[in-house]
Amino acid sequence: MTAVVRARRLTVRFGGNTALEAVDLDVHAGEVVALLGPSGSGKSTLLRALTRMVPTVADELAVAGRDVNKLRGGQLRALRSDVGYVFQHFHLVPTLSCLTNVLTGGLHEAGTVNLLGMFSTAQRAKALALLERVGLEQRARERCRVLSGGQQQRVAIARALMQDPQLLLADEPVSSLDPQLADSVLALLREVAAERGIPVLMSLHAVDLARTHADRIIGLRHGRVIIDSRAHQLDDAALTRLYQPAPEVHDAQ
Ligand SMILES: Nc1ncnc2c1ncn2[C@@H]1O[C@H](COP(=O)(O)OP(=O)(O)OP(=O)(O)O)[C@@H](O)[C@H]1O
Ligand SMILES: [Mg+2]
Repeated sequence: MTAVVRARRLTVRFGGNTALEAVDLDVHAGEVVALLGPSGSGKSTLLRALTRMVPTVADELAVAGRDVNKLRGGQLRALRSDVGYVFQHFHLVPTLSCLTNVLTGGLHEAGTVNLLGMFSTAQRAKALALLERVGLEQRARERCRVLSGGQQQRVAIARALMQDPQLLLADEPVSSLDPQLADSVLALLREVAAERGIPVLMSLHAVDLARTHADRIIGLRHGRVIIDSRAHQLDDAALTRLYQPAPEVHDAQ
């Protein structure tokens, strides 16, 4: 199976703070991988490192067939257009219609466009088909701010798919949603990724959602991978170690 992500000793430092330390990671086509770990453990940093949104050092970092460490300027933009991102707070433009929000996901291939109506007929048809896929074709012309959180995340998923990504990254995609919506949005992510044969790497805070919706679970603690397990084999003792509170540090007297 092809590895869409292959990282060896991937490290991210912010000044003196090591946010990610010597992470080895392979993600294969069709896999859904959940990243778990306490707040500050490096989940978002790992997702951002894969498209070099943060300064990275690695023995090897390959994403969607590209050697990420070697990419410059336009090549880095090309990588980012091959990777779909879904965020906790959707990052839609609230005053634009759902359709236009989805269309913006294809901007990299659209050339010079005018947001007020210069998208091609083919792009509009593709965006509408994606809205239909996520169950929102009836809402295409409405401003997306009037939609519920779950619906907005569906629009964001359609937008990510507009760019025909080779990989979907999702940073806490359901943390702003109630449990029922969280389930349906994760099920949708999984389905659309399976339809396209692309992997999903998503950070989650809820262990039960990771067990239900992921094939594999990676546990990060202090920037290191301490769990890499099939979801159904995830061990409770390992989870306890993952989330155990750090020893208290007292101020010097
Ligand atoms: N841009 C940045 N500049 C400086 N430090 C950063 C930056 N981004 C993250 N960090 C630090 O890197 C570490 C890991 O942060 P990260 O946001 O990846 O954690 P996380 O696991 O996503 O946490 P959460 O569950 O709260 O979202 C933290 O110590 C954080 O303060
Ligand atoms: Mg985070």
